[in-house]
Amino acid sequence: MQAVILVGGEGTRLRPLTSTVPKPVVPLVDRPFISFMLEWLRSHGVDDVIMSCGFLATSVRNVLGDGSAYGIRLRFVEEPEPRGTAGALKYAESLLDERFLMLNGDVLTDIDLTAQIAQHERTAAAATLALVPVEDPTAYGVVCLREDHSVSEFIEKPGSDHIPTNMISAGAYVLEREILGLIPAERNVSIEREVWPQLVGNGLYGYPSDSYWLDIGTPERYLKGTFDILEGNVKTAVQERLGTSYMALGDTVELMGRAIPPAVLERGVHVAHGAHVGSLVVLGQNVRVGAHTIVERAVILDGTEIGEDCVIRDCIVAGGCCIGAGTHITGGAVLGEGVTVGAGNVISAGARISPGVELPDGALRF
Ligand code: GDD
Ligand code: MG
Repeated sequence: MQAVILVGGEGTRLRPLTSTVPKPVVPLVDRPFISFMLEWLRSHGVDDVIMSCGFLATSVRNVLGDGSAYGIRLRFVEEPEPRGTAGALKYAESLLDERFLMLNGDVLTDIDLTAQIAQHERTAAAATLALVPVEDPTAYGVVCLREDHSVSEFIEKPGSDHIPTNMISAGAYVLEREILGLIPAERNVSIEREVWPQLVGNGLYGYPSDSYWLDIGTPERYLKGTFDILEGNVKTAVQERLGTSYMALGDTVELMGRAIPPAVLERGVHVAHGAHVGSLVVLGQNVRVGAHTIVERAVILDGTEIGEDCVIRDCIVAGGCCIGAGTHITGGAVLGEGVTVGAGNVISAGARISPGVELPDGALRF
């Protein structure tokens, strides 16, 4: 089975994590984000993936290689300029099979694609959209179904005055090649605004699912996705690493303090005496946590060093940062790569610090 993954967006809402790394390869728990999608696709029989790239395509290719690590043939297609969700598909036309999957590349899910494909066959659909319920559908494509699962209405990002259902398009589609005939070539085309409406009553079906689903595009949702993976709320390969103790310890971890599951402590992590890390913590390779420091509900990426007596909670600290003693980082703060924070700072309230910034001792108190 073949799949096209759309990864052309810039990931602006996930900055500063995406200032230096494109969204598909931002690390999530212990692997590049897009690996979760590749592993999920592989488990449903996908062995041929076309990545439709825009922004920083070369670094995505450098991280993922030819896909052999995933048992998948992986090819990359780069549009000359952003062509939109349907235009990007049209641009890959010469590589596409008679039937294939298309995925929005920014979701973490374990939807049963095998069952979705089976329904697609049963109904002889031209396109079958996976659907999931969400609390606030206004930021998504809202989909109404008839009894036979054919779509009666598709509204992309509805105004709050007309929301007929909370079922939204999950960004996972089974498509027949014939729909490419509906997409004009050489221009920006939105599949949501220009293709689905034409297919309503004409072969567009929905596959309702109650599986785990999350768009990871903001720091809050990135943390939620991390915690859900650690808790096992979504089926992923990380569960095997965590085992029944919900604790994954890499080689040569030096644990003088305490670690509370669920947590992942990668190779070379050092936790000094009196420190406590967890629960819901990811410490990347060679992270160092100073004495009596507390790290809770947080992601600290490779090579970051945290001093003594710090409180690091509900936040994301990218790789190569250096945090001075007594500093508090809380409340959804995000530090980009290579940030240096002097002693005694307080960073909270969703603050975002750009890569490479240097803050002197006691400079920030918010
Ligand atoms: N190659 C390429 N070229 N990819 C693109 C382009 C483009 O011009 N524009 C967007 N993408 C990719 C993004 O990287 C993302 O993975 C996917 O297409 C969807 O784009 P978003 O910008 O994230 O759309 P959205 O989240 O606002 O809405 C879409 O996803 C929702 C589910 O998360 C729509 O498909 C909604 O209908 C859907 O409910
Ligand atoms: Mg999105």
